Amino acid sequence: MVSPQAGRDIAPATGKLGVMLAGLGAVSTTFIAGVENVRRGSGLPIGSLTQMGTIRLGKRTDHRTPKIKEFVPLADLRDMVFAAWDPIPDDAYSAAKKAGVLEPPHLEPVAEFLKGIKPLPAAFDQSYVKRLTGTNVKRGKNKRDLAEQLRQDIREFKQRSGAARLVMIWAASTEVFLTAGPAHQNLAAFEKAMEQNDPAIAPSMLYAYAALMEQVPFANGAPNLTVDVPALQRLAEERTLPIGGKDFKTGQTMMKTVLAPAFKARMLGLAGWYSTNILGNRDGEVLDDPESFKTKEESKLGVLEYILQPDQYPELYGNIFHKVRINYYPPRGDNKEGWDNIDIFGWLGYPMQIKVDFLCRDSILAAPIVLDLALFFDLAQRARLSGIQEWLSFYFKSPQTAPGLYPEHDLFIQQTKLKNTLRWLMGEEQITHLGIEYYEKA
Ligand SMILES: NC(=O)c1ccc[n+]([C@@H]2O[C@H](COP(=O)([O-])OP(=O)(O)OC[C@H]3O[C@@H](n4cnc5c(N)ncnc54)[C@H](O)[C@@H]3O)[C@@H](O)[C@H]2O)c1
Repeated sequence: MVSPQAGRDIAPATGKLGVMLAGLGAVSTTFIAGVENVRRGSGLPIGSLTQMGTIRLGKRTDHRTPKIKEFVPLADLRDMVFAAWDPIPDDAYSAAKKAGVLEPPHLEPVAEFLKGIKPLPAAFDQSYVKRLTGTNVKRGKNKRDLAEQLRQDIREFKQRSGAARLVMIWAASTEVFLTAGPAHQNLAAFEKAMEQNDPAIAPSMLYAYAALMEQVPFANGAPNLTVDVPALQRLAEERTLPIGGKDFKTGQTMMKTVLAPAFKARMLGLAGWYSTNILGNRDGEVLDDPESFKTKEESKLGVLEYILQPDQYPELYGNIFHKVRINYYPPRGDNKEGWDNIDIFGWLGYPMQIKVDFLCRDSILAAPIVLDLALFFDLAQRARLSGIQEWLSFYFKSPQTAPGLYPEHDLFIQQTKLKNTLRWLMGEEQITHLGIEYYEKA
């Protein structure tokens, strides 16, 4: 056991960091083009904790508040190189234009750079994403063969780019709903299932398997099961590799995990929470399919149950009506509207209402999360942290946890956990917020 004050040996972030993205759609292109704009000084990495955030160390009277990127040894943005897979053959420039997120002033100056990122053929199967058809796909004799081809892609990219280290992030479409079954229990069963083309093995699992077999950390930005199965978790632990997911926590759910803890903190009751969304991007189109929506719905619904703990507070939270809808509405493109009606009640049971109308931009919120995850997963690997990285729950709608643990959804508990983990990694004291020493002199 490492003592809390000892810190952790962390290998330096020397050389290039290769970020491999499954999916080259709205989120991935906004992330890549954004990083390139930041590198050229034509934009700020707003929304990124690693780039803009600070961390307090020691006592409030010590006035030690370095930037996070100066406190922990993160890779430099200038050292990042990118690759992606997508069943749609558009290069990153065409894909970004189609996604319609970034305006010409952020796209045209980096056009040549983006055109250089052409998607590798994807391990894709339409039965898992019904609303998509793709031509840029791998062919193979079975799923294991496809996974081997992905492994080959990883090795080739590493060599071609000269990257010293890699991370992989799933930023591809939401697959149909799956639950863990016999094929996911151990590596032998998983590999056999790939060979037999078992439907329990979704394409996203092939990417996760390929990443882990090539010693690459894997983070899952969609709600698919993917790496949240015992076989892959054990593989990550055995190979001392960080993994995590699921589903980037961006707009509506981010707000939910801020508001619900506030109601609970003040012991205000909740009768109902109706959340609806209109969005018109490709993600919205994919989620219009009931089977992909089911995966997303589970991810969005889970948070209130865990935050509010109805078992412990039956009078306040024992009878909540919680509904989440996603409506595909093309005129809005990536500019989603997430609308929440919240029915709460207070003193003696008197009802009140809160309305939240978040006119957000999905990929603008997601891009900095992809950046932070790439940098923190790389840090985790260099610090030899293995398996599920619960300290990065801050970024996920349905955080993976160790078996038997319930997930922590409260955004501010997640933030405290993240920062305390950074302090622990660097051998700094944990901040408990007790603060009695400012008032009681020894
Ligand atoms: N933007 C957000 O705020 C946000 C938040 C949470 C989660 N997400 C999730 O992130 C993912 C990406 O979102 P987006 O807006 O970029 O969607 P998008 O539809 O623009 O991009 C996804 C891309 O993935 C590709 N794809 C599908 N299956 C693939 C496969 N097997 N291999 C490789 N590529 C594949 C698609 O062709 C598409 O180009 C979605 O699953 C979405 O639900 C987004």
